[in-house]
Amino acid sequence: MFPFQYYTPTRVVFGTGTENQVGTLVRAQGSKKVLIHYGSGSVVRSGLLDRVKASLCEAGVAFVELGGAVPNPRLSLVYRGIELCRAEGVDFILAVGGGSAIDSGKAIGYGVANEGDVWDFYAHTRVPSACLPIGVVLTLAATGSEMSNSSVITKDEGGIKRSCNTDLGRPVFAVMNPELTLTLPDYQTSCGCTDILMHTMERYFTNGGSMEITDSMAEALMRTVIAKAKILHADPQNLDARAEVMWAGSLSHNGLTGCGNDGGDWATHMLEHEIGGMFDVAHGAGLAAIWGSWARYVMDSCLSRFVRFAVNVMGIESSSDERAVALAGIQAMEAFFAEIGMPTRIPGLGIAPTHEQLEQMAKSCAAACGGVKGSARPLREADMLAIYEMAMEA
Ligand code: NZQ
Ligand code: ZN
Repeated sequence: MFPFQYYTPTRVVFGTGTENQVGTLVRAQGSKKVLIHYGSGSVVRSGLLDRVKASLCEAGVAFVELGGAVPNPRLSLVYRGIELCRAEGVDFILAVGGGSAIDSGKAIGYGVANEGDVWDFYAHTRVPSACLPIGVVLTLAATGSEMSNSSVITKDEGGIKRSCNTDLGRPVFAVMNPELTLTLPDYQTSCGCTDILMHTMERYFTNGGSMEITDSMAEALMRTVIAKAKILHADPQNLDARAEVMWAGSLSHNGLTGCGNDGGDWATHMLEHEIGGMFDVAHGAGLAAIWGSWARYVMDSCLSRFVRFAVNVMGIESSSDERAVALAGIQAMEAFFAEIGMPTRIPGLGIAPTHEQLEQMAKSCAAACGGVKGSARPLREADMLAIYEMAMEA
């Protein structure tokens, strides 16, 4: 067991109709003016934005709005948001949407509360000292950004996707009504379930410390999300499954499933961020396209965890041939990804990177990680390239 801090300051308001409480929740923060920040229009089409505005009006909270956050949210919109907030005297950010709107909102919050270029915090050349308070109305169970310390932004020029992780960016409240996710396309639901699983798997496949309570919670979370993802693929309107997945998404990335270990592996996420930055793919699909290759590459350096995962999560029968059990677990996970419509190789993302581009991604990934990443097996640039190459194979 490693020493740890568990910090989850986010008030979770979960259930049907909870978006109508948003005005009261913001007013309780003592805010004078709010920026409502959202994506490319799903919240307009669903009527959610109107309900949120009505709730703010009823509570007597003034607001301005800025839509346009896209998947792999862009720095250019963050700059516009910062300007708008400064001009309007905004002191609270309300993100309404998925991870992209939330992350973009967090970046605006950092930008307003600190001098200088907000990108410095993502390039890791400076650390923010403050952030405007963030509230969330969640419409997509996936990233866990509604409780996480993370914000991931893509610089428009060069498609450089980087994260800023500080407790300052943890939302003060997260409104979660699972009904709001009923309008999601099947592909986004599956991407979300994949991302949720990966946030726990990144913490689970480690060589640094463990606790039985953490491992058992992680396994229960993974089994639940796998079961509910299958249900939602067949029956997207299943509200109970939507609710389970939504709560799992928050628990998977608020730190709970990593308590007592070294922080986890995170190489799959870093490898995906390069693909997302260069090719603008959906984050969850990018993770599914890489994970199997990563798993085979690192398996022998973390065999006992892969065996435990195979038996306790994927239901593989235990045997004395540990490698065979571990491999069967990886195959079962890939079969699950395929079952819910996720790719298990890079070409399945509908992209065809050249070898030069793979080299470029490996180089950029290694640089973003300070040269080496991973706990299951520490990876350097050559390892990262090898995994990208494996993920290109049929
Ligand atoms: O933009 P709108 O029109 O809202 O449409 C979105 C978007 O096209 C749509 N959508 C969202 N809720 C919907 C809906 N469509 C219909 N009904 C609804 N209820 O879904 C599409 C994807 O939305 P997006 O917010 O981009 O997805 P997600 O939540 O998966 O966020 C992905 C981003 O978060 C980052 C990813 O890298 C990616 O940039 N991550 C953030 C993390 C964090 N902050 O902790 C951790 C993750 O590992 C991840 O890196
Ligand atoms: Zn993720």
